[in-house]
Amino acid sequence: MNAAKREIKVKRVSSRKRSRDILKTHLTPARKRGGGGGGGEQCPRNWRLSSIMADIKAVEYCSDSEDLFGDYDSILEDSSLLAKLDDAEQNERQRDLQTEAVDQRDFTTLRPSKDGEDILTDSILDGLGDEPFEDLPASQLDFQERVHENAKRSKLQDGDKTSTPFRNSDVDRNTEDKTKRQMKARRSVTDQLKRTMLCNAAAPSEVSRSVVLKEAVVSEEINVAMQAIETVSAQTTDLGPFFGLPTKVKELIYKLRGIKSLYDWQETCLNLDCVHQRKNLIYSLPTSGGKTLVAEILILRELLCRKKDCLFILPYISLVQEKVRGLASFGLELDFMVEEYAGSKGKFPPVKRRNQRSLYIATIEKAHSLVNSLIDTDRLDNLGLLVVDELHMLGDGSRGAVIEMTLAKVLYMSKMTQIIGMSATLGNIKDLQTFLRAENYTNDFRPVQLKEYVKLKDTIYEVDPKDEECFRFSRLLNFKYSSAMQKIDPDHIIALVTEVIPTHSCLVFCPTKKNCENVAGMICKYLKEEFLRHREEEKAVLLRELKDSGNGSVCPVLRRTVPFGLAYHHSGLTSEERKLVEEAYSNGVLCLLTCTSTLAAGVNLPARRVILRSPYVATDFLKRSQYKQMVGRAGRAGIDTEGESILILQDKDRTTAKGLLCAPMENCYSNLMHDEGKGLLSLILSLVGLNIAGSVDQVRDFLCGTLLYVQQKQLCAEKSLWDVVQHCVDQLKEKNLITAAAADAHGESLQVTKLGKATYKGSVDLTHSDELYQDLSRGLEGLLLNSYLHLVYLVTPYDMISQCQPDWMIYFRQFTLLSAAEQKMSGAVGVPESFVARKAAGQTVKKSVNLVAVRRMYLALVLFSLLKETNLWSVADRFQLSRGFIQTLLSSSSAFCSCVLHFTEELEEFWPFKALLTELTRRLSYCVKAELIPLMEVAGVMESRAKQLYNAGYKTLTHLANADPAVLSKTIENLYKKQAVQIVASAKMLLNEKAAALQEEVDDLLMMPTDFPSASQTRLT
Ligand SMILES: Nc1ncnc2c1ncn2[C@@H]1O[C@H](COP(=O)(O)OP(=O)(O)OP(=O)(O)O)[C@@H](O)[C@H]1O
Ligand SMILES: [Mg+2]
Repeated sequence: MNAAKREIKVKRVSSRKRSRDILKTHLTPARKRGGGGGGGEQCPRNWRLSSIMADIKAVEYCSDSEDLFGDYDSILEDSSLLAKLDDAEQNERQRDLQTEAVDQRDFTTLRPSKDGEDILTDSILDGLGDEPFEDLPASQLDFQERVHENAKRSKLQDGDKTSTPFRNSDVDRNTEDKTKRQMKARRSVTDQLKRTMLCNAAAPSEVSRSVVLKEAVVSEEINVAMQAIETVSAQTTDLGPFFGLPTKVKELIYKLRGIKSLYDWQETCLNLDCVHQRKNLIYSLPTSGGKTLVAEILILRELLCRKKDCLFILPYISLVQEKVRGLASFGLELDFMVEEYAGSKGKFPPVKRRNQRSLYIATIEKAHSLVNSLIDTDRLDNLGLLVVDELHMLGDGSRGAVIEMTLAKVLYMSKMTQIIGMSATLGNIKDLQTFLRAENYTNDFRPVQLKEYVKLKDTIYEVDPKDEECFRFSRLLNFKYSSAMQKIDPDHIIALVTEVIPTHSCLVFCPTKKNCENVAGMICKYLKEEFLRHREEEKAVLLRELKDSGNGSVCPVLRRTVPFGLAYHHSGLTSEERKLVEEAYSNGVLCLLTCTSTLAAGVNLPARRVILRSPYVATDFLKRSQYKQMVGRAGRAGIDTEGESILILQDKDRTTAKGLLCAPMENCYSNLMHDEGKGLLSLILSLVGLNIAGSVDQVRDFLCGTLLYVQQKQLCAEKSLWDVVQHCVDQLKEKNLITAAAADAHGESLQVTKLGKATYKGSVDLTHSDELYQDLSRGLEGLLLNSYLHLVYLVTPYDMISQCQPDWMIYFRQFTLLSAAEQKMSGAVGVPESFVARKAAGQTVKKSVNLVAVRRMYLALVLFSLLKETNLWSVADRFQLSRGFIQTLLSSSSAFCSCVLHFTEELEEFWPFKALLTELTRRLSYCVKAELIPLMEVAGVMESRAKQLYNAGYKTLTHLANADPAVLSKTIENLYKKQAVQIVASAKMLLNEKAAALQEEVDDLLMMPTDFPSASQTRLT
């Protein structure tokens, strides 16, 4: 066959192969790929596959690229390649003869069984017990069996410890060999090419030890992931009984969530005509109404039946992590990816997956970047469904503006993407409906009845909106207070809480963080000894865990309150402490939390009784929505028969409180104009940057689809919206973020500048983009590289600067500890030692100094100390800052670092930053010992848990993915079975994700370019 013919043949065959592959699971195990023991095989398949993958992985995780391209060069120069191509051609000819038969076979295997039985359900759910969490989902059991098999096998086979996939038995092997022989015949030339290249790539003349290690690790990871995926296979053809989903979904919901049947409203909502027609929908119900489950069922339907990706937006990182953990098991069982987009996690654009769908679970900010990157790469149509939890956050300052931009872009750019919003009840839902062109479903269902009360002096009144007074007498508080006690607890909090604890749970919302700590301490003083004996051992374990999480230190307040079953909960705690406290409360070990309003908006921690210590948050009177969210925590479904809330009122607040209790719900307004129109500015910049709009006219056209447009009468009273738009465009031009070319019929044509592109790609605040550019440019002139300080300074977020006042003595002491080079660098960025020294000495400084730089350097010193010793507690102590603040600083810095990285990637002059910031992002994201990082990549595994796991022998992601949750929960102190199941599932999911991403990369690399010049073209030229 001549060269031209061969070329055409190659292309035809590869496309045919690809179309068939769509029907299979993506990550076909190596043996199914035709890499089996047939002739022509010149190297052990897994070893070679892994070696190329190890190298690709290095692009992501190592700044050292020594091995990245050498292997590919060697492919091009390898004279054996042609011989192997010939070999492939032989096979190809044979394959052609068998094509028809093979196609037939492929389709019959995919055909559902005759009697209509649900194959998936039978094969996978066999292992599920009747009770939730009694045992594990079948895929995990299967997974473990294989691990045990493998362990047995590796004992027998010395030296083959990492790379070979597990096999079941000799019988299997015989059948497998037979299948392989058949498979070999239908192997495509593409496959041959791939294998050949893999073989060559994996045969370097000298292999460094690090490369071998990398290979071994990646190979192991891929093997495990393949095993996991193999257990599922794409059999989701039963699209029936459970709201169009396989029966298996229903069983999983019971198994993993303990939910046996849906609430009536949930059924009604899922059966709405508009839902069947995939129209956009907003549904609003009170807190704890069970909104999430409806969204999850719709997501599963989109993933499994329509085979489209989904994006689920949640407001906080902790909620994203909780959801990732909760849905990972569904992903494993039903064969879709669950990808975390929070903090510094998430890839832009997301990894392309040919044969698997992805569920992106994202914070508001990350979701926006994700949608931008999908638009940028023309992949938005793959997004079938976008769900926004807490949709009323549209009205929440700059974050609300980001949600609005994201939704408006999706509405404008993709007609096929369905939008679902969940919300608490709102006054002006009609506005949101118009914006989203959505239907609305509202219901006031609560699984547990809520009774609202207020307390005035020693009387309890029940809230009754129909009553003229808004509340009516219920009972007198019957509690004898000594005069000393009356002084300490004038609001009778102790009386109110001891009516429910320790048997039932109680939340006490306090106006400030300090107040939370004081109230918890105060209650403990008057609790009887018997409180100490309630779940004594578990409380001791909790204290030990708190101590571990603090590297030996425990907060003195918690040390005193936990033995009584009490704790406080606010942002001054580290996220690890918060999580421990939350878990202990959920499990009844703690019976009371004193907390700030953030708890109501974040995690789902219901209580029998909710007490609002006062109707204030700091000095602001509560908003109705905040009040509703707090009291909504009362009543635990399935545990309490009713929930009750008590708002403690002083006489002076009586009248104002009526509005709080009985007024209609608040309205939600667009925030694009918030903070001097910052949102609108950045929206217009990205519209131009993404080529969504190329002129002012087109910008206007886009804006007609925003909430701001719907509400322009209320929000743009002084200036028309179009004047505002023109003003924004002018501002962007002034800032050199966009430029305008000569006018045509649509007005001047707008284009984004390089700085503008970097700004929106990095999600950098417009007010800081110029400053960031200047800082980075100056940085390049004399970047200090023998210390992290300079780089850390460059990624210390601008918006944290105002949140911290330096303590000059501490500043000076830390400054003197710096090396000469570090001090010099500090002087160069505008923070000279003389200034800090004078301030520490209490002297006035006449010379003008850039105070922003001075404060920023102070925060950079905090981060620098943290990077050096990784102990949050001692750094908090040294800088006299709360450990919660330091942790927030750290997480904001790691997020900003990844923003700066994306920013620099768009500007050639900043090329050296790429490698540096990639590593720094990782260091800041996991400010722990390097060995713990792989474990902490698993959603929700924090440092002390990672340490426990590591010490128990679960040292890598692979160890964790192979763990038996039952064993894990027995081995690891205070790890509940449910948590263990979630950790293992998340680890497996992450492993799958990594392996699949590597596989996609390999496939991309080896795929024949679609625009490859054909032989005839070549002849013509
Ligand atoms: N059909 C059901 N049967 C039993 N429990 C359910 C059902 N649906 C949801 N739940 C449970 O009810 C609890 C509250 O549900 P969910 O978090 O979805 O409430 P929500 O409406 O989103 O409230 P919020 O506004 O507070 O976020 C969860 O623990 C959930 O598992
Ligand atoms: Mg919710």
